Amino acid sequence: MDGFVSIEKSFVVLGCVYLSWKIIKHIWSSLNLEKDPVTVLVTGAAGQIGYALVPMIARGEMLGPDQPVIIHMLDIEQAAEALNGVKMELIDAAFPLLKGVVATTDVVEACSDVNIAILVGGFPRKEGMERKDVMSKNVSIYKAQALALDQHAAPDCKVLVVANPANTNALILKEFAPSIPEKNITCLTRLDHNRALGQISEKLNVHVSDVKNVIIWGNHSSTQYPDANHATVKTFTGEKPATELVGDDKWLKTEFIDTVQQRGAAIIKARRMSSALSAASSACDHIRDWVLGTPKGTWVSMGVSSDGSYGVPQGLIYSFPVTCDKGEWSIMQGLKIDEFSREKMDANAKELMEEKSLAYSCLN
Ligand SMILES: NC(=O)c1ccc[n+]([C@@H]2O[C@H](COP(=O)([O-])OP(=O)(O)OC[C@H]3O[C@@H](n4cnc5c(N)ncnc54)[C@H](O)[C@@H]3O)[C@@H](O)[C@H]2O)c1
Repeated sequence: MDGFVSIEKSFVVLGCVYLSWKIIKHIWSSLNLEKDPVTVLVTGAAGQIGYALVPMIARGEMLGPDQPVIIHMLDIEQAAEALNGVKMELIDAAFPLLKGVVATTDVVEACSDVNIAILVGGFPRKEGMERKDVMSKNVSIYKAQALALDQHAAPDCKVLVVANPANTNALILKEFAPSIPEKNITCLTRLDHNRALGQISEKLNVHVSDVKNVIIWGNHSSTQYPDANHATVKTFTGEKPATELVGDDKWLKTEFIDTVQQRGAAIIKARRMSSALSAASSACDHIRDWVLGTPKGTWVSMGVSSDGSYGVPQGLIYSFPVTCDKGEWSIMQGLKIDEFSREKMDANAKELMEEKSLAYSCLN
């Protein structure tokens, strides 16, 4: 009898807790308490990636469906009119989460109080230009933007560099924005990561969301090393190594790597313009996972400042497998590296060291 009474009491208590929770939830939603808006800067916003990216941010694809945003867009004087057109379109789209838009050619106004900076603007390589000339143009752009972010962005600002040479632009930014924590400066290799997932899914005829844990090591250039050695695929009988399911080591060491490395060039050939939709979508993926966290047991590729992991020289911005939690990334440790991978990873470090020297020579 006593047991029955205590079970009855527990049900009453549970019922009260449930009802109180419902009441609090109702009051909360009727008060319409919204999160504070997050201010996101997109540079080069009049360009093709910018045009694809800003509506994704305004729709909540980057920071979630309940996160209001204010978008700052920066471009150069020659693109001011086009930039204003993008602003008009953002207003016309009536995005519920969009709480403000700034379109400017003033770097200080653009950088003021931003919580997230996505740097897409840069100087493209034109016919007849030497590598050093392009590097020199971008080094001076990234130095100026670093100084503005250093002085005017929110102190915890997270930075994602998309514009090429992405790793080295991020390195310059790190150098000239000392008040921004080193861990907050990253570059985009998520597009390459997503391309690698796509190639495995096509090869195995499985859905891309069933493939995970590929890695892009190194530079966002055609030297990058797409590595499927640790990737897994969800099957009816559990997760299986991608290498086992593909069962074709030659393909993984040749065609798979080449296709991912050369995918940007293939898209330019097909579209006569470089990738924009997939680049914008990957930039959203990068920031979303960084801010909101990677799913348990899953890593993604991000260009981050090396802490010496896997023998990569400290301080280089190098793409690693990372997991993210509470707004912080950590390099996935303890992965076995075979001789084939070692060679490719070292080639990337060497290329990035050379880019670094070239960039520094442009500063002098
Ligand atoms: N990391 C990646 O995965 C990845 C993928 C695709 C493209 N990219 C790179 O992204 C960059 C942008 O590509 P896009 O296709 O949008 O190019 P785009 O030429 O269409 O747009 C670039 C925009 O940047 C602007 N810009 C130039 N200098 C600027 C400055 N100092 N401040 C602000 N804006 C400036 C230009 O006016 C232009 O509107 C390129 O460098 C491209 O190589 C990187």
